[in-house]
Amino acid sequence: MIKLSPSILSADFANLERDITKAALAGADYIHVDVMDGHFVPNITIGVPVVKSLRRATSLPLDVHLMITDPDDYIEAFIRAGADILTVHAEANGDTLAQIRRIRALGARPSVSIKPGTPIETVLPLLPELSMLLVMTVEPGFGGQGFIENTIPKIRALRDAIDAGGYACELEADGGIGAKNIRAVCEYGINVVVAGSAVFGQPDIGAAIAQLRANTEGL
Ligand code: DX5
Ligand code: ZN
Repeated sequence: MIKLSPSILSADFANLERDITKAALAGADYIHVDVMDGHFVPNITIGVPVVKSLRRATSLPLDVHLMITDPDDYIEAFIRAGADILTVHAEANGDTLAQIRRIRALGARPSVSIKPGTPIETVLPLLPELSMLLVMTVEPGFGGQGFIENTIPKIRALRDAIDAGGYACELEADGGIGAKNIRAVCEYGINVVVAGSAVFGQPDIGAAIAQLRANTEGL
């Protein structure tokens, strides 16, 4: 079954507990937390203290997406704060393989993300050590953008590589996914879907999740 990871980037930041509780009750699988440093991407969001508070507010796994230039400086702090899945960008500073191993050694599930313009060859050698691979389907930085169609061949190729190797690596897509295209995205090979504006940007969070779920029925 497809997993849904609603992104709190589109939630009401003054009412995060209320919004994530609605998502949890509606059957969200993870809570996606977008951390931006104003340097790796041209936006600033939240950091370690908010993850720590979210940890107390939900029992769902926290899927923490680091869009920051220097993940080495923050990996340990985010895991101590309660990140269950920790994603670093392949384009960020540092040795990505060493970061993956450190995340696992600290007790979290390691994940790597690639931006739309980054070729999959960058991450293919990492697949055996990853719990998840996050394909950005928009340029990272902001919610509410349109899905970039030319990421589809990358998704298909990554799905083939994961299946061919028999790797226990989830394949997540992030950006521009909603009720209209979620089924197609999953048919390309995605099994974890991030949705921000399509969930927390909707008037009824529970109904929005139910709709996404209905649209992936049978997958
Ligand atoms: C963008 C973030 C996404 C964002 C997705 O850089 O990584 O997680 O919240 O938002 P939507 O689903 O609205 O495209
Ligand atoms: Zn994200």
